Parts: sequence; C-alpha cells; structure tokens
Amino acid sequence: MSDAAQELTNKPFAAQLSNVYLSILALFCFKLFVKISLNLLTYFYIVRGNRKEAARISAEFYDYGQQHRSWADRSPLHDAASQGRLLALKTLILQGHNVNVLTIDHVTPLHEACLGDHVACARALIDAGANVNASTVDGVTPLFNACTVGSVACTEILLENGAKPQSLVYHPSPIHEATSKGHYGCVEALVTWGADVDMDIPHLGTALYTACVCQELECARKLLREGANVQKGKSLDSPLHAAAEKDCTAVVKLLLDFGADINARNTEFQRPVDVAPASSLTEGFLLLYEATPRLLSQLCRQCIRNCVGRDRLHLLSHLPLPNRLRNYLRYQ
Ligand SMILES: *[C@@H]1O[C@H](CO)[C@@H](O)[C@H](O)[C@H]1NC(C)=O
Repeated sequence: MSDAAQELTNKPFAAQLSNVYLSILALFCFKLFVKISLNLLTYFYIVRGNRKEAARISAEFYDYGQQHRSWADRSPLHDAASQGRLLALKTLILQGHNVNVLTIDHVTPLHEACLGDHVACARALIDAGANVNASTVDGVTPLFNACTVGSVACTEILLENGAKPQSLVYHPSPIHEATSKGHYGCVEALVTWGADVDMDIPHLGTALYTACVCQELECARKLLREGANVQKGKSLDSPLHAAAEKDCTAVVKLLLDFGADINARNTEFQRPVDVAPASSLTEGFLLLYEATPRLLSQLCRQCIRNCVGRDRLHLLSHLPLPNRLRNYLRYQ
C-alpha cells in the first residue's frame, strides 16, 4: 500500500496526468456502454414482444375519460379511423390494439371509418376482425353511418362482409336513412343484399313513404321497381298522400304509374287530392288524372307484376318475351 503510494509520488507529473485522463476515458466508455445497453433493452422491451403491454398501457391511458362523454374516451384507433389515416391505423392494429374497442356510447372505430367514408380504413378494420354488426347504445350500426354519408363503397364492403342489411324495428334504419338523404347507390346496395323494401317503422312509415316526404324521386323509383308496396305509407297515410301534400308532381306521377290508389283515405278521411295544396300543380294533375281513363297497358303491367309477386320480380328479365315488353314490365 505504502509502496504504491510512494511509487505514485515518485512518478513524474506527466505520467500522473495521463493516468487521470485514462480514468476519465474509462469512465466515459463505461457510461456509453451502459447507455447503449439501456437503449437496446428499451427497444426490445417496447418494440418487440411486448405489443400487448404497450396496448394495455395506452388503453389504460385513454380509458381515463370514461366518466365524461367526450372525445377523451376515444381510442387512438377511433381517431385514426375517423381521420382516414390508414398507415397509422394499420400500425396501431399491428401493435395489438383491439379493433373492437368501444367508447362509452359503444362507438367502434369501424363506425368512425364509415362516417368518414374512409373505405380503406373500413377494409383494414374488417380484415382485422372488426364486428360489422356492432351497434351503439342508440342502435346505430356502421352500415347506418355509411348510409348517412352516402358512402356506397363502405355500404358494399360492410354488406359483403356479412353486415345485416336492416335494423330491428325501433333502431335507426339504414334504408330509411339512405332514402331520406337521396343516396340512391346505398339504397340499391341495401336492396341487392336483401333489405326489406316494405319495412315499416312506426314513427317513420316505409322507406317509400320517407322518399315521398323527402321528395327523393330516384330513390322512390328504385324502391318501387324492387317491388315496394305502393300503398304502404305511415299508418293510413299512403305515399301518394305524402307526395301530394308536398306538391311534388314528379313523385305523384311516379306513384300513379305504379298503380297508387287515388281514392285512398287517410286517418282524417281525406284523399290525396284533398291534402294537396289548394290550386297547386299537383291538385290540378290529380283532378285531371281522376277524369282520365287508365291505359290498358298500365293496368296489364300492374296485374302481371302483382301475379309475379315481389320476391320474384327479379325474374321478370328471364321471361321469354320481347325485350321491349320485358323492359316495360320492369319499368326500365
Ligand atoms: C350480422 O348479423 C346477421 C344477422 O343477425 C348475421 O346473420 C351475420 O352473420 C352477422 N355477421 C357477422 C359478421 O357476425
């Protein structure tokens, strides 16, 4: 011990100095080594093999807002889906986030993707196992959202993946929603995938009635071509009553073309002509129509369509008839 101390004091000053430098260098290298290993450890801990833990931590973080009905209860997946950020969404899915994560109102990321008309995001979510039938506390489905914004692509992808085309009676109905907004493509997709064209919701009536109230001519035409019952409206109010009341002559003509009863009475015992605004175009049209005999060809068409029945109307195009006749029967 004393020998070493003596040796140290005996050494020239320069040698002692280099010893100090050496120790500083060693210390620096040691610190660098510790830093690098820590970083490596962190990397493996977070990025590899610990996706579940990462997801759990972030879920816990976002769960914080559950008491408040605010944006805070949305997950990063909800945000990415509603903003249509596909890359972020896919990354989050890869990191193990649950694609069916719910807000307090039971809104899923798929609801958000459809409301934003972000087809690619919707597809990514469905591919990752998102529930296409998910329903919020208000009964809103992703399909309903797609119909709200008129996203035909989202509507189709949902239906292709097994979404049920119609809601329960007291829940928001996709076909009524699409019809009221005039989203013809969505109505078409829904009908193609088996939505009931005559579905009657007590406070809304049928989809055809909604089309008449909202004066959506093309949607009304589509529903009628697909065999919607021309007399079925809301309670005793027929679609013709609704169209007449709105003074929408185009829809009135269409309904009469499909055989609407001009003498139907509503709950106030009024006929469509009675509910049309006084001295309006529609009133005049209805009065004239009453006084004119119906065309035999039209009567025949209605008769044949009634015989074929709603569920077999799609087979009309296979009848061994001349093209013009077939098209006439299908109102094409
Ligand atoms: C959605 O609901 C319908 C009707 O209940 C069911 O037939 C269908 O399989 C469901 N789809 C999925 C993907 O669960």
